[in-house]
Amino acid sequence: MCPCLSVFLRGLFLVGIVGAGPAGLMLGHLLHRAGIDSVILESRSREYVVERVRAGVLEQGTVDLMHEAGVGDRLGREGMRHEGIYIRFGGARHRIDMAGLTGGRAITIYGQNEVVKDLMTLRFASGRPLHFEVTDLSVHDLDTRAPRVRFQHEGVQHEAACDFIAGCDGSHGVCRGAVPPSHLQTYEREYPFAWLGILASAPPTSQELVYSLSERGFALFSMRSPTITRLYLQCAPDEDVNGWSDDRIWGELIARLGSDDGWAPKPGAILQKGVTPMRSVVVEPMRYGRLFLAGDAAHIVPPTGAKGLNLAMADVRRLATAIEESYAGGGEARLDEYSDRGLRRTWRAQRFSWWMTSMLHRQEGETPFDYRRQLAELDYLVSSQAAMTSLAENYVGTPFD
Ligand code: FAD
Ligand code: PHB
Repeated sequence: MCPCLSVFLRGLFLVGIVGAGPAGLMLGHLLHRAGIDSVILESRSREYVVERVRAGVLEQGTVDLMHEAGVGDRLGREGMRHEGIYIRFGGARHRIDMAGLTGGRAITIYGQNEVVKDLMTLRFASGRPLHFEVTDLSVHDLDTRAPRVRFQHEGVQHEAACDFIAGCDGSHGVCRGAVPPSHLQTYEREYPFAWLGILASAPPTSQELVYSLSERGFALFSMRSPTITRLYLQCAPDEDVNGWSDDRIWGELIARLGSDDGWAPKPGAILQKGVTPMRSVVVEPMRYGRLFLAGDAAHIVPPTGAKGLNLAMADVRRLATAIEESYAGGGEARLDEYSDRGLRRTWRAQRFSWWMTSMLHRQEGETPFDYRRQLAELDYLVSSQAAMTSLAENYVGTPFD
């Protein structure tokens, strides 16, 4: 087919958004509510984006944003508000009363794919463009006031002339790589383990999440609904998921999570399994000219702190406000602050996620001293009001600014 060039007919304002994950879709929605047009471009199919099983923990700030943005109805009905979490070690579970320690703040369990579904429904209703399965996407003239996005869609070459481009294309996207290396500093840390995650058709046996350190390594009990559990166990970064039969997975989860009081997860049919590597990445700054990086395109956190999706939401809220203010003639002060404010939040989340990860995982080559020290840290955590408050404040998240 002829890759003919068609330049978008555009309205007065246009923001090019690369990626239709939670960051891109929420940004498009917030801009739409402010009367600002955008085009959202996604390389994967609609089904793939909706079905990808990832995060499940929404901070209070994310829940508040969803309600404020008019996308909280189903979340309000189906989301599961959790006021505490359990930390399990030495065979016993210890509850941390997060709401009691933070003046009533809590987390809500609601799958990332449900967030994506809700945002997509509103996007389609808005009539504004959202294209799936775009290919050969590239961004240009980022250091001018007229940046452009080029891509192919349904065999036709397109070019969109924009005022701003938002790189919401995750950790493997193209936007971050479009910034000249001399303008970007990358900070990275690889962890020497990964998570094997499963989704199972089994009613949760605990009302709240259970994070566990056992002699056999880390495990996490989570859920998606009153009939679906989500569980993870620490494994090697190059773990072959085919080496894990359903029986082996349940045996290992029960060994790592089961408690002296008789509590354990209940096995059920495994609907999905996969291995997630663990890493920390931060790029600085989160902006180059008219390109703004948001969400996983700018930073990755290990999932132990449940912060990735929440950081993405905090980024796009700040970015939408800054773009709106600039179009309204309020100047560019907020756009200029976008990166510094985001990096402050990101580094706090990195610190918290790193701390949770190192406290709860076993490392190859560690000494018996290290494990005893981890147990002592957990013992201190669950017996000190100050330590529990610190965990609770970070876990439920600080209000979005
Ligand atoms: P993404 O969701 O990665 O979306 C980016 C989109 O861009 C994708 O749809 C991708 O297909 C598209 N794209 C990529 N390249 C291109 C291109 N060239 N052109 C066009 N489109 C492109 N976070 C939490 O807050 N709480 C949790 O409990 C939690 N648990 C997690 C558990 C697991 C197992 C994993 C893997 C992650 C977890 N996270 C959690 C992290 C969270 O899922 C991510 O931080 C979140 O998806 C980031 O959203 P995003 O929109 O920035 O990026
Ligand atoms: C999840 O439910 O998928 C989940 C919960 C807590 C985490 C990470 C993932 O820390």
